[in-house]
Amino acid sequence: MAVPTQVKLDARRLRADFPIFGEQIHSKPLAYLDSASSAQKPRQVLDAMREFYETSYANVHRGVYTLAVRSDERYEAARETARGFVNASSPREIIFTRGATEGLNLVAYAWGLANLGPGDVVLVTELDHHSNFVPWQFIAQRTGAAFRVLPIDDAGELQLDALDEMSASGTVKVVACNFVSNTLGTINPVERLAGWAHDQGAILVVDAAQAAPHVVVDVQALGCDFLALSSHKLCGPTGAGVLWGRRELLEAMPPFNLGGSMIRSVSAAKTTWNELPYKFEAGTPAIGEVVGMAEAMSYISAAGLDAIARHEHELLEHALDRLSEVPGITLYGPSPERRAGIVSFNLDGIHPHDVAQVLDWEGVAVRAGHHCTQPLMTKLGVAATTRASFYVYSIPEEVDRLVAGLHKVKRSLG
Ligand code: ALA
Repeated sequence: MAVPTQVKLDARRLRADFPIFGEQIHSKPLAYLDSASSAQKPRQVLDAMREFYETSYANVHRGVYTLAVRSDERYEAARETARGFVNASSPREIIFTRGATEGLNLVAYAWGLANLGPGDVVLVTELDHHSNFVPWQFIAQRTGAAFRVLPIDDAGELQLDALDEMSASGTVKVVACNFVSNTLGTINPVERLAGWAHDQGAILVVDAAQAAPHVVVDVQALGCDFLALSSHKLCGPTGAGVLWGRRELLEAMPPFNLGGSMIRSVSAAKTTWNELPYKFEAGTPAIGEVVGMAEAMSYISAAGLDAIARHEHELLEHALDRLSEVPGITLYGPSPERRAGIVSFNLDGIHPHDVAQVLDWEGVAVRAGHHCTQPLMTKLGVAATTRASFYVYSIPEEVDRLVAGLHKVKRSLG
C-alpha cells in the first residue's frame, strides 16, 4: 500500500509571487511578521482583479447586456469557490460581506434582535476579537439578555469546565467564539463548543477570520451555525468577506442592510425580500474584491491548507525556541501543537510600541497593541503585547532577524 507523503510548502517559491518583498524598509529587506493583521497579496490576486476590471466589469444582478452577464458569471463563480472553500452544502448559504466584522454584526443584529430577550444568555469567550464580542454585548444590552464571558486558563485555552456554570443563569441562546485566536494563536475546540451549544438549544457563531488563512474550514464538519471570514487575511483584497449560515436560519432571519437588490417587491404598503443569498446583499457589492478573494482562496488552496499549517508550525517552533533565549521575555499562549503561527510576547520594562519601532528600523514589521482583544489583555494583566505572525511566504531568516532585532531593542532600551 502506498504511504501518503505530506507535501511540504515551498515558502521561498511562493514568496516570489509577492511583489511586496521587492521593497526595502530602512534600506533592509522587508521581514513581514504581521500577517495576522493582514496578509500580503500575490501577483495572481492582483492580476485577477486587474484582468476582471479590464475585461469583465459591470454592476451585477442588474444588466442584460453581455458585459453585465460576464460580470454576474464571475461574481457567482466566486460564490461557488467560496462555497467549496468552507464546504457549504449550497451557494445560497454564502453571503458576501465587507469582511468578518460585517458578517458577525449581521448575525448579531438580524438573528440576535429577533431571537434574544430577558432570561436568555449570550456567551462569548475571553479570547474573542472585539468583532465577535462587542456586537453581542451590545445586542444583549438592547434585548435584555445576559452577557457572559467564558474564561481562559493560564495557557490561553478556553476553560470548557466552566461552560455548565455559564448556563446556570438562564437559557443559553448564542455561543460566539473564534476558531483561532488572533492574539495567542490558540486553536479552539469548535466541534465541542458546537455540541455543547446545541445541547443548550443555542446557536454557535464562529469568527474564522484568523483560521481561514491557516487551517481547513469545513462548516459541515465543525457543526457550527454561522461562520464569518475576511478576504484580507487570506491574501485577498480588503473590503470583502464571507458569512456562511445554515440555510434554515438565514431563511428565517430578517434582513440586516436594506436597499437595492435585497428586495423582491417594494410598494408603500409592503416590501418583500429577495431569496438567499441576495436578501443579505443590499446595494452594489464589492465585485472586484470578491473576484480577488476567490482567486486568493484558490491560491492558498493550491498551496494546501495542511501544508500551510505545517509550515507555520515549523516556524512557530523555531520562533519559540529562539525567542526563549531573549532575556526578560514573556511569551504568551498555549503549546505549539495547540496553536497557529502567532507569537505574542513582552519584554520586561519596554513598551510594545517601542519594541515595534526599533524592529521597524531593522526592516522587521510586527504589530504592537491590544490586537482588538482588550478583555484578553486584561486577563494577561498587560495593556498590550508585541505580536509576530507568519504565513505562506514567511521564512526562518525572518524569525532570526526578529530575534536579532529584539537583542538590539534590549541594548538600546533595556
Ligand atoms: N484582527 C486583526 C489583527 O489581529 C486586525 O491584527
